[in-house]
Amino acid sequence: MTDIDWDQLRAVATDAMTRAYVPYSRFPVGAAALVTDGRVVAGCNTENASYGVGLCAECGLISNLAMTGGGQLVAFVCVDREGRTLMPCGRCRQLIFEHALPGMLLETVSGIRSIEEVLPDAFGPRDLEER
Ligand code: THU
Repeated sequence: MTDIDWDQLRAVATDAMTRAYVPYSRFPVGAAALVTDGRVVAGCNTENASYGVGLCAECGLISNLAMTGGGQLVAFVCVDREGRTLMPCGRCRQLIFEHALPGMLLETVSGIRSIEEVLPDAFGPRDLEER
């Protein structure tokens, strides 16, 4: 696997975080990921007066992935307002899993881990196939 520039990914995620729309939680989040073709995609959280409708930063990132040509994620990082690494929530681990290259790496609060480590025995598209 190509070398991953974690500092650059964190910088992109931190820039995305500054665009977050978070009038309710006041908890801005930014996410950035390296794609198989070398692109970097990003997203920020976008909340809503109907609180449950709020979108995590990862939702924006996955939409950005689709809009800019698709592909699979090779490396992912998520940050808080200080630019500190944040764990993606459980729902977003599932969201990322579907678009992750097997073995995709995440920067986590306990070091670099694979998507399979942070979402073991994941439910995915293959589970929808006939058994
Ligand atoms: N949030 C994210 O954007 N991604 C995560 O993985 C964790 C939580 C957002 C949702 C909400 O806007 C704010 O952080 C507080 O939960």
